[in-house]
Amino acid sequence: MDTQKPPAVSNVTRIDHPLVQHKLTLLRQKERSTSSFRTLLAEISMLLVYEVTRDLPLTYKEIETPLASMRAPLIDGKKVVLLNILRAGTGMVEGMLRILPSARVGQIGLYRDPETLGAVEYYFKVPGEMADRDVIVVDPMLATGNSAVAAVDRVKTANPRSIKFVCLLAAPEGLLNFRESHPDVPVYTAAIDDHLNDHGYIIPGLGDAGDRLFGTK
Ligand code: URA
Repeated sequence: MDTQKPPAVSNVTRIDHPLVQHKLTLLRQKERSTSSFRTLLAEISMLLVYEVTRDLPLTYKEIETPLASMRAPLIDGKKVVLLNILRAGTGMVEGMLRILPSARVGQIGLYRDPETLGAVEYYFKVPGEMADRDVIVVDPMLATGNSAVAAVDRVKTANPRSIKFVCLLAAPEGLLNFRESHPDVPVYTAAIDDHLNDHGYIIPGLGDAGDRLFGTK
């Protein structure tokens, strides 16, 4: 099944770097071990966050090298916040922290109400001074989009300087749902898959990202 479709909705970037695509294929394989899944997810997440932070504003500071003074660039503003959508976002956040080691980490926990099927929040914690911070919301799977929409709804109440959403795989249904609620929030994904099945799983996908990451199946 070809998963290399261009995004059908606006403001979606598919990160098609060959390293990302190669590692994603390895990650999808059902025989992949929990340990290897974790390693690959962290590696891909490093590469994704490198692309997602490409437009962070820079400021210039006078520094001394061993040989001369110079005005050199540094990232401007308060530390970036990675907002982890529990629980599978954890595997991506771990990788992202390897190249953004000073980033702050927020957490949001959501469960699906069995009757309404809507996302219900059970935990939310972000750092202070959000008005000066850029937030990257992280969840490997944009499936129905309900969790992503709820997480962004919630983080918007903290009025951060900017918000982006990053996932590994997106379903077309989830992208449309997310775009309807948050047309202003850019989405970054490694792949846009074919469809959602009746249980809300992305096809071809990679199965349950949380179970594969934590070895709980
Ligand atoms: N969540 C997952 O972990 N996998 C899917 O395919 C959809 C949602």
